[in-house]
Amino acid sequence: MPARCYDVPGMALILVTGGTGFVGRRLVKALIAQGHELCCLVRPTSQTSALAHLGVRFYRGDVTDPDSVERAVAGAEAVIHLAAIIRERGKATFHRTNYEGTRNVVGAAVRTGAKRLLFMSNLGAAPDPAFPFLHSKWQAEEAIKASGLDYTIFRSSVLFGEGDGFVSPLAGLIKRLPLVPVIGSGQTRFQLLSVDEVVTCLIMALGDDKTIGQVMELGGPEHLTYEEIVDLIMGVLGRRRPKVHIPVTLMQPLAWLMDKLLPRPLVTPGQLAMLRRDNITDLDVVERAFGFKPISLRQGLDYIVR
Ligand SMILES: NC(=O)c1ccc[n+]([C@@H]2O[C@H](COP(=O)([O-])OP(=O)(O)OC[C@H]3O[C@@H](n4cnc5c(N)ncnc54)[C@H](OP(=O)(O)O)[C@@H]3O)[C@@H](O)[C@H]2O)c1
Repeated sequence: MPARCYDVPGMALILVTGGTGFVGRRLVKALIAQGHELCCLVRPTSQTSALAHLGVRFYRGDVTDPDSVERAVAGAEAVIHLAAIIRERGKATFHRTNYEGTRNVVGAAVRTGAKRLLFMSNLGAAPDPAFPFLHSKWQAEEAIKASGLDYTIFRSSVLFGEGDGFVSPLAGLIKRLPLVPVIGSGQTRFQLLSVDEVVTCLIMALGDDKTIGQVMELGGPEHLTYEEIVDLIMGVLGRRRPKVHIPVTLMQPLAWLMDKLLPRPLVTPGQLAMLRRDNITDLDVVERAFGFKPISLRQGLDYIVR
């Protein structure tokens, strides 16, 4: 019988996957600050130093390894499953990590009696294999819906905040280059949401049984085109740069090359495909579901100046 993570009467025992990531680091800190006790499934290579001093218990493993997942989930009453990849590398494919990894988490939760599951999916998750990342998230959602667990699925828009993978690299380009590349028409629309506010939504949902069995879309308070986001960032940085539109067809081989050669490519082929589609939902989804209006990108952009 595996040991329980923690056993505090009246306190949810929470297992977080992806706790070392952009969302996870903030979520873990916020849960600890609220008095929850939790454990995290982390990979042997995960950087845990930012969380180690918080009193989090770590289980070494991998979502693609069912035994390690079961060891971590055993004893938890709730699982918050964030672990996923946005970029395929070698054996770490979307299918294996995002779908099969989720199936492993779901299977372990069912077997060990963890009733509650919160899952981070993405706006646009759909059964369309032309978008392999979004397809893997849709498959993961389906596995969760069929599990019998008390689930809440969050389909989130792109997030912003210190260390993000969208606004920060763009700001870096604007600081370094005399021109700003805009892929395609620049008219694809986004609804950027603050990462801290997603964490708020996750924590509120954890304590709210009305969210059980729901697929909830999350997005910020405005629809902005890619080009408007570039303009906003240039305004905040005080650096006006000429914009150069690069056709998507020209970017495709470049994205492929960057994906093969660079540790942090500006854009991967998968992201390039997604840049062709709006990533938006209703403007008031967060306010309707959680009763607060998220901050705009402009209100939360200080971190790119720091
Ligand atoms: N960021 C966004 O804009 C955004 C928008 C919508 C939805 N989401 C979703 O929100 C979730 C969290 O996103 P994020 O931005 O925080 O991602 P992230 O920064 O890339 O973090 C991913 C996390 O997953 C872990 N992980 C990856 N593969 C794993 C594996 N095989 N086994 C165990 N752990 C593994 C990583 O561990 P290591 O530390 O070892 O790498 C890391 O902790 C994801 O499901 C993502 O799809 C994100």
